[in-house]
Amino acid sequence: MKAKLILIILGYLIFISCKQQPVSIKSGEKWPDNNGVHINAHGGGIMFYEGIYYWFGEHKIEGKKGNKAWVGVHCYSSKNLVDWFDEGIALEVVKDDPNHDITEGCILERPKVIFNSKTKKFVMWFHLELKSMGYDAARSGVAIADKVTGPYKFLKSFRPNAGIWPKNVLGLHKQPVSGNVEKKYCGGKGCLPSHPDSLNLLGRDFITGQMARDQNLFVDDDGKAYHIYSSEENSTLHISQLSDDYLSDAGNYVRVFSDRYMEAPAMFKHNNKYYIIASDCTGWEPNAARLACAPNIFGPWEELGNPCVGEGAELTFRSQSTFVLQIPGKKDAFVFMGDRWTPENAIDGRYIWLPIQFDENGIPFLKWIDEWYLDFFENI
Ligand code: GAL
Repeated sequence: MKAKLILIILGYLIFISCKQQPVSIKSGEKWPDNNGVHINAHGGGIMFYEGIYYWFGEHKIEGKKGNKAWVGVHCYSSKNLVDWFDEGIALEVVKDDPNHDITEGCILERPKVIFNSKTKKFVMWFHLELKSMGYDAARSGVAIADKVTGPYKFLKSFRPNAGIWPKNVLGLHKQPVSGNVEKKYCGGKGCLPSHPDSLNLLGRDFITGQMARDQNLFVDDDGKAYHIYSSEENSTLHISQLSDDYLSDAGNYVRVFSDRYMEAPAMFKHNNKYYIIASDCTGWEPNAARLACAPNIFGPWEELGNPCVGEGAELTFRSQSTFVLQIPGKKDAFVFMGDRWTPENAIDGRYIWLPIQFDENGIPFLKWIDEWYLDFFENI
């Protein structure tokens, strides 16, 4: 009888301590999954599907130098954004065909997944650099799955919008193209041109398709999806509508922030306004984030400066944007997701997640918080 009582009390105490254990987000620390292993999903994004969050990101390898893809895209699932279950590799690189677009040793970055409710397929887009070409290929890859966690089947890779002018094409783009591209801004991706507009990079790539490096996807309230990518040697972002099945660009796109070298774009919508948080172009080194706003997805876009405030604001708290997650069912609850890259040992890269706050004029801002709880959004 006594033993039974002790067991009941013990059970109750364990229940209480589990219940009261706060689920908190501590940016910059190691984030163990259900196996106690630091989450390996860099440059990632989150999709919410049937009550569960799915996090997809670049799987990095211990001990291999550089940023090559040796495994593929890793997927994790969670009910509360804090406890993550390892769902394994959603898209695998190809190991037995050296000529395959996603053969092992290619560069596969910033994967994002969206669900197409018409076709009932999960569609993944990523930035692809073909093996042994450095960052010159600048292509988009597309893969598809019937099940959210995969396996995803690689469909194709290409440069978007071949043979199509953007909605806001300028007269100069249709002029003959200068072969003399003076290179400036040397960094992780080689040397980039100065004053790209005068060089007409859009016109240069008109026939082959536009360069697409750092990329993201955004699904609007009406179900239309958009592909946002750093183009024209990273100098200019393109916002490009996807086809109804989300598998291709629909041929309806705009150039935005020309000559601004925006990378790492992450789009969200709040109170009928579109926002982009992006970065400058400094490779793995962090820089100051940039916020922009537009009444319409195709613009006009207005830059609003650095959304980060307080200590660490100048380097985005030593991170670079990768995604903005809207908490489902909460109109004002958004989480900024960034990567703190560690190129010397990429697998150790850390995740910086902060709640997006809104000032008295409704302008989003980000402030470092050591540890925050999901009930941050409770009253929102
Ligand atoms: C960053 C970019 C990353 C990766 C890296 C390579 O600017 O955001 O996704 O491409 O450069 O240097």
